[in-house]
Order: sequence, then C-alpha cells, then structure tokens
Amino acid sequence: PDEIGVGELASRMKKTGAEVVKTLMKMGVMASLSEIIDYDTAALVAMELGCKVEKEVVVTIEEKLIDTTEDKEEDLIPRAPVVVVMGHVDHGKTSLLDYIRHANVVSGEAGGITQHIGAYQVDVNGSPVTFLDTPGHEAFTAMRARGAMVTDVAILVVAADDGIMPQTVESINHAKAAEIPVIVAINKMDKPTANPERIKQQLTEYSLVPEEWGGDTIICPISAKTGEGIDNLLDMVVLTAEMRELKANPNRSAHGAVIEARLDKGRGPVATLLVQNGTLHQGDVIIAGTAVGRVRAMTNDKGQKVTEAGPSVPVEIIGMSEVPEAGDDFHAVADERMARELAEQRKAEQKSSMNSNVGKVTLEDLFSQI
Ligand code: GTP
Ligand code: MG
Repeated sequence: PDEIGVGELASRMKKTGAEVVKTLMKMGVMASLSEIIDYDTAALVAMELGCKVEKEVVVTIEEKLIDTTEDKEEDLIPRAPVVVVMGHVDHGKTSLLDYIRHANVVSGEAGGITQHIGAYQVDVNGSPVTFLDTPGHEAFTAMRARGAMVTDVAILVVAADDGIMPQTVESINHAKAAEIPVIVAINKMDKPTANPERIKQQLTEYSLVPEEWGGDTIICPISAKTGEGIDNLLDMVVLTAEMRELKANPNRSAHGAVIEARLDKGRGPVATLLVQNGTLHQGDVIIAGTAVGRVRAMTNDKGQKVTEAGPSVPVEIIGMSEVPEAGDDFHAVADERMARELAEQRKAEQKSSMNSNVGKVTLEDLFSQI
C-alpha cells in the first residue's frame, strides 16, 4: 500500500516504463522497472507526468472482523476494578484471596503452590472487585507479567518474617511496566518474627516509600491467617480503584484476555476469560490467537452456569476449537467463517515466522537447549 513497483506505476498511469524511469532519473532516483519505490516518490513522478496517485486502502480480515471503534463517553458505565495479587513464592497470596473469599483454595492446590492464575469476583462492602491470583514461583514470570498487564491495581504481598525476595522485585517491575498502582500488603503479621519496619525500609530501595515516611505507597500490615488488617487493605484497594474512574461499555461485543486455558478430557478446551469490555454471551463466536469457537457454556468463579458476562467478569468457557494461549486477547465476532479464515491466516504467519527463525539458531541456542 505504501509502495509500488516502477513498472506497475507506469502501466497504471498508461505511460511507458522508459518515461517513468527517465522522470525518476531527473529527480535523482536511479531505479529500474523492477524496482519498488515509496509512495511519496511515486506521487512526485505522477505529478510530473500529469497523473494523480491515491493510496490504496487495504482492509485486512482482522480489520473487517474485529470492532476496534472507541467507545463514546455516554456509553461508558463504571466497572469493577481488576486487582492482581503478586509476590514471592509462599508469601501468602492465595491465603489472602482465600480469606477474602472465605473459601479454601490453598489446601486444594498441589503442594500448596499456585499452578494457575485463579480469577475471582468478590463483593467488598457492596462494590464488586475482581482478583487475579498469580504464582510466586520463579518459573512463572510470564504469568505475573500478563497478570499485571490486564489489571488496574496490584497488591504486592510481602511476608513480614521474610522480606523482599527476587519475585517481589520482579512483581514490582511488572507493575511499574504496566503503570498500575501498587498497594503493599505486609503479610504474616501474626508471626512473632514479623518485622514490618525492615520491609518498609527495603521497599524504599524500589521507590515504594510508605505514606507515613512522606511517600505515596499505601502499606497495609495484614495476616491472612487471622484476618487482621484485611478489611483495611480492601478499603484501600477500593479507594485506589475509585480514583481511576474505571469504565466500560457493556453494550458491545466482548473483548478481553485469556487468563488460563487447558485441555479437559471430557469437555475439550477450557479457557478462563476476563472480559475487559463489552458483554460475552453464550453462543458468541470468539477468536483468541489461532483458536476459534462458539461459547457453548459459561461458568462463573462460583461454579454456577451463566449466560452472559460483562466487563471485569471472569468466566470459564468451553467450545473452542483448540486450547488458546494464556495471555492472548480474545474478541467476540459476528462472522464465524471469517474468524476461521483469520485464525488460518494467523497460523500461517506463525509457521512462516517459525521457519524464518530456524536459520537463526546459533550454537549458544543449541547448547542452552540441551
Ligand atoms: P505461591 O502461590 O506458591 O507463590 O504461594 P502463595 O503466596 O500463594 O502462599 P500461600 O497462600 O500458599 O501460603 C504459603 C504458606 O504460608 C502456607 O502454609 C500458609 O498457610 C502460610 N501463610 C499464609 N499467610 C499467612 C499468615 O498471615 N500467617 C501465617 N502464620 N502463615 C501464613
Ligand atoms: Mg498461591
């Protein structure tokens, strides 16, 4: 669209190739018939030869299929904040969410280590808040990065008896990169070895300066075991979120992120989606990366069947053709056939970029794979 072959340009202007080449030469551009020139050069040549060029507008399937129009202010209504809980392994992220939900997820997890991002919506004094749990294990950098990307506020959990650890620092960096406010929850305050002052001191090294020391970081001492300080933490989360005036338009086709996905033996691909804008309905056709499908059934975070999910609502869905990738965007679309076409196109692109990478494998790559 932004360039054209010299020969092609000549034939479209119904001029000979020689005329175009000569005109180019006069402009100081040495180009043969087979060469490609940019739009601005072509426009100059055309003007010189008494023709006009217009840019060709190529509409891709993606542009035809996916509605990216901006919402009008009057269509927007307040939505629940999405809060990611991050921090080092075993510092108490799942226990905190557990306490908030009054359920018991920790004991149900393999070895007490969070394997996936769990997504839940909780009612905090009448306001809905969506929480994403993330694993603290170092292997899950990508999950923490994704978690920060789709959220509005981060709760950074730091164990009072431990301190700032590598994945604490990494979580701080993800939150900074995503430009979301960080609220620090100093957890395990019930332990006799808890030393919150030391943690506050350490935090200042990462430009998280407590309010009481003149900074703007909210720090909440809590215990996920006894529940101490958790009401205050939730108040702070709601306050921080309110300042951001988060809004969405529930009256459009849904768009959001794949939080986690897996293949279930009986039900096929199962995906947890977080709707970020619009409303997802049972029966909608969705595309996420190279996966396409019709939402056959939706379940909310309490395991109840639902037929629709609005902004900031996490739902588990079945009906995709393949397992989408966690972190992918998803879009509800009107045309299933076109969605399949786009998915095929994306697959082909993936394949060709994979092939072009093959030639670039270095010896180091090979060794690091062994
Ligand atoms: P990963 O998901 O593996 O990163 O860990 P996590 O941050 O979710 O920690 P989890 O909630 O699984 O808690 C780790 C351990 O700390 C568990 O044995 C909890 O019972 C314990 N724990 C969590 N919060 C507290 C607390 O406030 N006080 C005390 N005493 N123990 C806690
Ligand atoms: Mg956990």
